[in-house]
Order: sequence, then C-alpha cells, then structure tokens
Amino acid sequence: MKTVKCLYQICLGCLLIGAATLQISDAATVTYTCNNFLPQFQRCDQFVSQWAEKTGNRVKVREKLWITDDELSFIQQILTTHNPEPDILMVDVIWTELLANYLVDLNTYIPPSKRNLFFKKILINNTDSKGRLVTVPLFSSVGMLFFREDLLEKYDRSVPKTWEELTDTAAYIVEREKEVNPDLVGFVWQGRPYEGLTCVALEWIDSFGGGTIIDNRGNITVNNPLAVQALLTAKAWIGKISPPQVLDYAEYESRMVFQEGNAVFMRHWPFVWRPANSDDCPVKGKIGTAPIPKGGGNGKHSGTLGGWNLAVSKYSAHPQEAVDLCLFMSSPKIQFHRAVVSGQAPTVETLYQKKQLLSNQPFLKDMPKWVNHSVDRPSKIM
Ligand code: GLC
Repeated sequence: MKTVKCLYQICLGCLLIGAATLQISDAATVTYTCNNFLPQFQRCDQFVSQWAEKTGNRVKVREKLWITDDELSFIQQILTTHNPEPDILMVDVIWTELLANYLVDLNTYIPPSKRNLFFKKILINNTDSKGRLVTVPLFSSVGMLFFREDLLEKYDRSVPKTWEELTDTAAYIVEREKEVNPDLVGFVWQGRPYEGLTCVALEWIDSFGGGTIIDNRGNITVNNPLAVQALLTAKAWIGKISPPQVLDYAEYESRMVFQEGNAVFMRHWPFVWRPANSDDCPVKGKIGTAPIPKGGGNGKHSGTLGGWNLAVSKYSAHPQEAVDLCLFMSSPKIQFHRAVVSGQAPTVETLYQKKQLLSNQPFLKDMPKWVNHSVDRPSKIM
C-alpha cells in the first residue's frame, strides 16, 4: 500500500512538473516599448504586469528613446534587419506610412465596436494608404500654449489671442519683472532642427492662413506670403522674447525653463500639465492653458496633431499575444488611469466626460475639439 501511495505521489509530482513546464513553454515573452519621459509618474511597468498576471505571459520592457527622431532611427534599424524584438513598438502619429510595411494589420484583430471608441481622426491617421490599420492609438497630443497665470494677473494682461498680443505681453512682463527675476524670458518653444520644430513651424504657418506646407492634393504650397509672414514673425522673437538658446531646445529643455519659473509663455504638449503642477515644481498652481495664438486678425488657432500609438512588428514571434497587450494598454480603463496619473491625454473620446479626469486636468475639457481641429503634418495620407 505504501509503495502504491509513493508511486501515486511520484506520478502526481511528475504531472505537476509537466504542467508547470507546459505552462512555461506555452507562455510567451513579449517585449513592450515604454515611454519613460516622466519617471516620477510612470505606470507602464505596473500596467504591463497586470496583463502578464492576467494572461500568464511575460513582458520585457524596453525604454523608448527621448527624441522622436532617435527612436525612429532605432525602429528602422531593427525592422529592416527583421529583428523579432521589440514585439511592440511605440509609433509617432507621423510614421504610419513610413513603417506600415513592417507592421501587422490590426483590422482583423480589432472589432469595429472597439475601434470606434477611438477618435476617428486618429484612426484615419493610423491607417495606411492600402487601408491597413497598423497602429492602435495610445495617447494623444495637440500643440498648445502654456502661460503664467499669476504674471498675467499681476500685470493685468489678458491671455493672448494672437501672436502679436503674445509678443507684446511677453516683452512687457519680462521688462517689469527684471528686478524680481533676471532669468525670466518671454516665450520658449522647440527650436532645435528636428521633428519638434516641424510641429511648431506648421502651427505658425497654419495660424497665419499660410497653409500646411503641402496641400490635400500633394502640391507644395509653403512658398506663399502668409507663410513668409509667419516665419518672419517667429524669427523676430529670437534674442527678443525668446532666448537664442531656444534654437537648441527640444521638449525637455523648453519644459525645464518654464517649470523652473523662467518663462512667461511656452508652446508644448498636454502631458506637461502634470509635471508642471507637481508638488516640487515652483510654478505649481500658477499655470494657464490656451490654444495656439492666431496669426493676425484673419488667422486661426492651430495646434499640430501629435501623439503616440502602439504597433506590432511583422517579425514578432508572438503577434497574437502582442496585439492583446496593445489592446490592453490602450483600453479605456488603462487609458483613464494613465491620463490621471501621468497626464497622457486619452485617445478614447468618451473619457473626456469623466469628472475625475477633468477635475484633475481641467484644460482637457477642450481636448476633443483641439484633436478634431488639429493640423496634420505633411506625412498624412491624402
Ligand atoms: C511629441 C508628439 C509627436 C511629435 C514629437 C516631436 O512627442 O507627440 O507627435 O512628433 O513630439 O518632437
């Protein structure tokens, strides 16, 4: 009887080891690209772990490079060498067509009921010229103006509606604040020669009515008097309301000047609201937001569409699991948490009705309008 019991225990042990081995070999390891611009708020690791726990798979996290152009070079290198990792890529809204041939078509994986939760404008952007949906919208961005509400109030100045008003107000305040803060500058933005400057320059040109560099039919329209006026307006800021160093500022540098309390105005993306209002930030509670100013009386408010998406590499060894993780990370529940915690604006339109989100970041109430009226870079599909 003892022997039988012993045999039984051995067999049970074998079965358990077998099952465990089976589970391990069945489990996929998926490499996920995560953006850690704001490590103090980063929730990426926690969220991917939730998915791993739920599905029994494993996730390796790779950090995205800071500068969008650097990340593109990395992605192009790994895709053109058919590298299976990372399985999941973070894709800028402007790379759809550029990378489409290397990405899995998500149309077959995402039913219309799920697809329709996202902003239509972003879905159109994420679909290539052959009709393949190659990325899932992760978070959205539109160029906007941040300003020091306290300084505008102190000098009884209203929020600028035009670039002319912004120029005037910036110079006025900097001059009067000289004694209090000699480091204060009027206006910071992304002036380094990289994708960020394309976004900024497109806004200037479009805000003056100077078009979108290339029109909807593919004609190059940038050489026109209103575009020239826009660029001359910006050129005149350098060394006046914007420091010469602005020509080497990317997102991080411009944000730091503003967050340290050394700029009256800043052009940036929505995610800045959270770090600029964190407890250790000198400008916490002193920040206002507005649309990008118009170029003159006949101009318009114009914000460039930015934002990031998730895509699955065609060379992934686990496409099914990778798509599942993309859908999990872009689901309304996770998007909501990510928006509240790290200030990344949702791509699911209905989330903008959530009171908890709006009380946390009130300016987001205007975000759906800004996204729907944003200006696309020339990379868009025509
Ligand atoms: C932000 C935007 C992205 C843009 C980049 C430029 O990350 O979301 O779309 O290309 O800035 O620097």
